Amino acid sequence: MKPPSTGTERHRSRTRARGPATALAAVAAATAVALNLAIPAQAASTLKAAAEARGRYFGTALTRGDLGISAEVNLAAAQFDMVTPGNEMKWDATEPSKGSFNFGSGDQIVSFAQSHGMRVRGHNLVWHAQLPAWVGGVPLNQVQGVMENHITTEATHYRGKVYAWDVVNEPYNEDGTLRQDVFYKAMGSGYIAAALRAAHAADPNAKLYINDYNIEGINAKSNGLYSLAQSLLAQGVPLHGIGLESHFIVGQVPSSLQANMERFAALGLDVAITELDDRIQMPADSSELQQQGTDYGRVVNACLAVPRCVGVSQWGVDDGHTWIPGTFPGYGAPMMWDSSYQPKAAYQAALSALNSGTSSPSQSPSQSPSQSPSQSPSRSPSASPSSSPSSSPSSPVPGACSATIKTINSWGGGFQSEVTVRAGSSAVNGWTVKWAWPGGQTISSLWNGVSSGSGSSVTVRNESYNGSIAAGGSTTFGFTANGTAATPTATCTSP
Ligand code: G3I
Repeated sequence: MKPPSTGTERHRSRTRARGPATALAAVAAATAVALNLAIPAQAASTLKAAAEARGRYFGTALTRGDLGISAEVNLAAAQFDMVTPGNEMKWDATEPSKGSFNFGSGDQIVSFAQSHGMRVRGHNLVWHAQLPAWVGGVPLNQVQGVMENHITTEATHYRGKVYAWDVVNEPYNEDGTLRQDVFYKAMGSGYIAAALRAAHAADPNAKLYINDYNIEGINAKSNGLYSLAQSLLAQGVPLHGIGLESHFIVGQVPSSLQANMERFAALGLDVAITELDDRIQMPADSSELQQQGTDYGRVVNACLAVPRCVGVSQWGVDDGHTWIPGTFPGYGAPMMWDSSYQPKAAYQAALSALNSGTSSPSQSPSQSPSQSPSQSPSRSPSASPSSSPSSSPSSPVPGACSATIKTINSWGGGFQSEVTVRAGSSAVNGWTVKWAWPGGQTISSLWNGVSSGSGSSVTVRNESYNGSIAAGGSTTFGFTANGTAATPTATCTSP
C-alpha cells in the first residue's frame, strides 16, 4: 500500500489549523493515537492514494482509443490504480472468428496499466452482447466446448496479469430470471458454473466475478443473483465476487446499496462497484451536479462500510468520453471530471469520503475496521458529528422539509422501506423525520440515517453526509423492519 501523498494535501481534521484550534487538533490527534485508531495522518490528494489508505482501489475503464488522448490518460494514471478495458477483452474483440484469437488491443491496455503501476480487472469472458455472430450459429451441443475454449484461451493468455475477471457478464433479466442467451439455451443455468470452473483452471489466482447492472439495490434481479450465488458456493464452484455495475441516474442511488452488498459479503464473497457513472438530463444545473456529488459520496461510503467491498471503478474518466449520450440521448455529464478535465463536485465528494471516513453509516453491523474519530466507540448512536447541522441548538422549522415512506419489498414477518426526504423551496441543512408505527413494527436495520426513539415512536436524523438538501431536492434513507409492512405518515423538521 502506498503512503498517502503530500503536496497539496489538506489536514483531515475538520478543525481549522489556526490559533487555539491548532491545539484542539493536536489533542484530537493525540486522542486518536491513544485510541489506536487506524487513521491516516494526512488526507490524500488523489483517489488512488485515498482508496489505498482505506485498503481499497479506485479504478477506471479505458479503451484503446482513450490511450491516444494524453490529457485523459494522464489524469487516469494520476488518479486511478485499477483499469478495466472498456471493450478490448470482450469476445468480439478477442475471438472475432472461431478459433482465431487476437489479444493485441487488450495487451495494450494491460501494458499501459502495468507501466503506471495499475492493476487490471478483466472484462469479460462470457456475455450475450458484443458476441460475434458466429457464436450464435454454433450447434447447441457444441456451445459448451466453444465457450470453454474461449475462456481457457483468453484467461490463460492473461494469467497473472489480471486481478479479477468478470467471468459472466449481465446474465440476468430484470425479473430475476436468467437471460435466454445462447449459453443458457445450450446448457441451462449450468453454463455459469462451467464458465467459472474453466476460468479458475486457466488462472487460479484471479478473483472470479459475476457482474451485472440494476443489482445494486435489493430487488428481484439481485435476489435472483443472490440465490444463484448461494447455490454456486454450496456446490463449491469458484465464485469469488459480485460486481455491481452502478450505472445510476442522478439522485437515484438505491438506499439499499449497502445492505445489498452486505448480504453478498455475508456469503463470503467480495463485492465491487465496477462501472460507476451517474447520468444527468442535459443541460446539467448546479443542484444536479451537487446531487451527483452526494451520489458519488454515498456510493464510496457504502463501499467503505462493507469490509468485503474491495474497490470502486468509474466507467471512464471525463464527461467528454463516455458511452452515456450515445445510449441515453439527452443524458450526459456522468463522470467525476467535466469534458475539460476539471474536477466536479462528484470528485470532491468521492475524495473526501475516502479521506474522512466520517460518513460510513454508523449503524452498520459490519462496519469497516478503519473508522474515523467520529465513529469512535464513545460516540452516541443518536449523536450527529459536531459539524452536523442537525446538532444546531436553533428551533426546528416545521414545513422546511417533507418525508414519505414507501414499501420496497416485503416478506413473511418483515419488510423493507425507503424514505424520501424532500426540501421545500429553501435548502435544508439537517433534517429530522418522525413517525409512529401503527402495529408494533420494529426497525431491524437502518442506513443513511441515525435512528432513535422508543416503542412505536421513531426518530431518524440525517447522517453527516446527507443533511444538506438543495431547494426542491431530495435524499433517501432506508430500513428493514419486523412486522407487517406499513406506510405511516411521517413529519420532517429542519433546524
Ligand atoms: O468498433 C466499432 C467501429 O468499427 C465502428 O465504426 C463504430 C460505429 O458505431 O462502432 C464501434 O463499436 C462500438 C464499440 O463500443 C467500440 O467502440 C460499438 O458501436 C458500441 O456500441 C460499443 O459500445 C460499448 C458498449 O459496452 C457495448 O455494449 C461501450 O464502448 C462500452 O463502454 C460498453 O460497456 C458496457 C460494459 O461492457 C458492460 N456494462 C455496461 C457498459 C455500458 O454499456
